[in-house]
Amino acid sequence: MAVMANSIGITVLGCGVVGGGVVNILTEQRELLRSRTGLTFDVLHIVDKNPDVAKRFPSIAFTTDASAAIADPKVQIVVELIGGTGVAGKFVEQALTAGKHVVTANKSLLATRGSEFFSLARKHDASIGFEASCGGGIPIINAILHGLSANRNDAIVGILNGTCNFILSQMTRHGWSYAQALAEAQKAGFAEADPTLDVSGRDTAQKLAILGGLAFNARIAESDIHLEGIDTLQDTDIKLAGELGYVGERVKDKLSLRVHPTLVHHDDVLADVSGSFNAVSLYGHAVGHTLYYGRGAGSMPAASAVVADIVNVGLGVIPLAFKQLQVFPDTAAKAAVLPFEELQSRYYLRLTAKDVPGVLADVTAALGKNGISLSAVLQRESNESKTVPVVITTHLAREGSVRKALAEIDALPTVTPKTVCLRIIDQPKEFSNGG
Ligand code: HSE
Repeated sequence: MAVMANSIGITVLGCGVVGGGVVNILTEQRELLRSRTGLTFDVLHIVDKNPDVAKRFPSIAFTTDASAAIADPKVQIVVELIGGTGVAGKFVEQALTAGKHVVTANKSLLATRGSEFFSLARKHDASIGFEASCGGGIPIINAILHGLSANRNDAIVGILNGTCNFILSQMTRHGWSYAQALAEAQKAGFAEADPTLDVSGRDTAQKLAILGGLAFNARIAESDIHLEGIDTLQDTDIKLAGELGYVGERVKDKLSLRVHPTLVHHDDVLADVSGSFNAVSLYGHAVGHTLYYGRGAGSMPAASAVVADIVNVGLGVIPLAFKQLQVFPDTAAKAAVLPFEELQSRYYLRLTAKDVPGVLADVTAALGKNGISLSAVLQRESNESKTVPVVITTHLAREGSVRKALAEIDALPTVTPKTVCLRIIDQPKEFSNGG
């Protein structure tokens, strides 16, 4: 559907945390948007399963009948903010089939059915805006599609889950418990309806599938991404470790794609990203290192990104980019993924050893035998139970070799319980390609 009219009709599906923010901006900033763009953006229908929503926006037509609100011929843009892959998928399909442009924040839907929806949109001369699906209010998709179009992107590294970052920040900086921090993230509206999506790292993996796909011009499935969440971290390591990071990088002709808790050096700007903030580093062959920072979750930051998409559909920018750019999941080739064992990284290992002669020699022998070179070893005094915590950091090593060495170390009768293994990122050195 061409968006040529000066008045853009909109249906908002789902008027919760983000949907409410979108309707607020579109109504309160109507004049600002009109003076800036020459267009008026009119919310013609709000659809929600909760009729109480109608009381919040009495001047806008409310209905529980999504199909009718989508089909209204005056509606050009359908904004899907229901979330999840159930009814949201059904309504997006309905809207695209009717030739309506769709704006969505739904990363689960895009990560699972993106290819199908993009191809459906193409068939019906519609388009999809999804800036709010990754990094909340940070215009990261716009940066990749437009600002960095001169670059071959070699890596994206960052923090993409506000809930995890908030939990870790509150625990490390303010001494909160995990449960208290998670409850507060839910109250503040950062967390997904099912917060296990956040803390398991899946939400971040879905975002990496979307961003990595655009940046590397490849179709990435969630299953291509190695996943470790913050839900298995222990307090001791949280104090030392920091953030839930994600990394996508080119290694020769393959992509290394991973989401896991990561140690970053305190000099690294990522170490200062706290609360619900997100940060994304992109490395382009021409520009080098660029960094994008902002609120990654919450009503108004996400609404800011949704409204930007609505405006860009109205201006014709998104429909045009969608037609021309060959980076969307329905046109890109499937990603060639580097097997996780081939990953080269630095590692943090924390083991608990019995305070007996020769134990450290056995541990370092297992590491040496597997070609792993140590960068630092820290051993504290033994406690009453006659065990010593030992923290080892390594130089760059192969993931497969580290796993083999850890299996040998954990089989030693003098080492118990299982060794904790986290990865360390030294950026931008690691991705700068000498530029
Ligand atoms: N649950 C997500 C987060 C919301 O915490 O980052 C934004 O995608």
